Amino acid sequence: SLVPTGELVARAAAEHSCVAAFNVITLEHAEGIVAGAEAAGRPVILQISENAVRYHGGRLAPLALAASSVARTATVDVALHLDHVTDIDLLHQAADTGFSSVMFDAGALPYTENLAATASAARWAHGAGLWIEAELGYVGGKPDSPASAHADGVRTDPAEAADYVARTGVDALAVAVGSSHAMIERSATLDHALIARLREAVPVPLVLHGSSGVPHAELRAAVLAGMIKINIGTALNISLTHTVRDVLRREPALTDPRKYLGPARDAVATTVRDVLTVLAA
Ligand code: G3H
Ligand code: ZN
Repeated sequence: SLVPTGELVARAAAEHSCVAAFNVITLEHAEGIVAGAEAAGRPVILQISENAVRYHGGRLAPLALAASSVARTATVDVALHLDHVTDIDLLHQAADTGFSSVMFDAGALPYTENLAATASAARWAHGAGLWIEAELGYVGGKPDSPASAHADGVRTDPAEAADYVARTGVDALAVAVGSSHAMIERSATLDHALIARLREAVPVPLVLHGSSGVPHAELRAAVLAGMIKINIGTALNISLTHTVRDVLRREPALTDPRKYLGPARDAVATTVRDVLTVLAA
């Protein structure tokens, strides 16, 4: 069933566990993610990023309504989250399309500008009844990244993070602790000492972005150190695309998309089930 993101995050925090959020680009992603969550018997967050909305011609409703429909009929709890929003107009559409939460991404802005933009986004979100996540420090790896998240300068500073949360009023904070977006190998090394210091300093749940590049053992350690929301996108695209490529290589004459998208959706489900099982261990 469809439940609010804030509820899943609060439940994970109370249980000292985590909730995983997976990126939805196509209907098959949403179906595969929910099937994987059902197989693992775990709740899950479906998140749609601004980039995915751009891919769908700038229209939010088609994918959002499909994802929320898949969520409603799930046998596990599923929440719907709007991810990496920089466009205020898109932010304002969230409340009308089934989302219970948004991530407002001012992570590329200098501190004072990030602070002002995020505080205003948070006021709007709370007025609309939405839970809001923001980012401080910079998790790089997106197409127009100014810097690598592996560089020291973009790690999140605990004192600044505490000040930022107090001044913006956000409900959760994405932090830069060594992961980077869109890694195709699990080779990131997290700064576990920094995660522990952030956990101490920051009164709201911490969010890990770019989790596809983090080895499973490191992910477990990050959860034990206090990471509550774990964002995963690229790992699903790897499973999906490899499967499509394999099927078409074996059967080059195929034309029915169900014959390659079906197995690709199953591969997404398997990846989700496996990650959720690791995270719950
Ligand atoms: O917000 C989405 C996540 O940060 C996904 O990152 O594609 O590197 O797993 P990833
Ligand atoms: Zn992200």
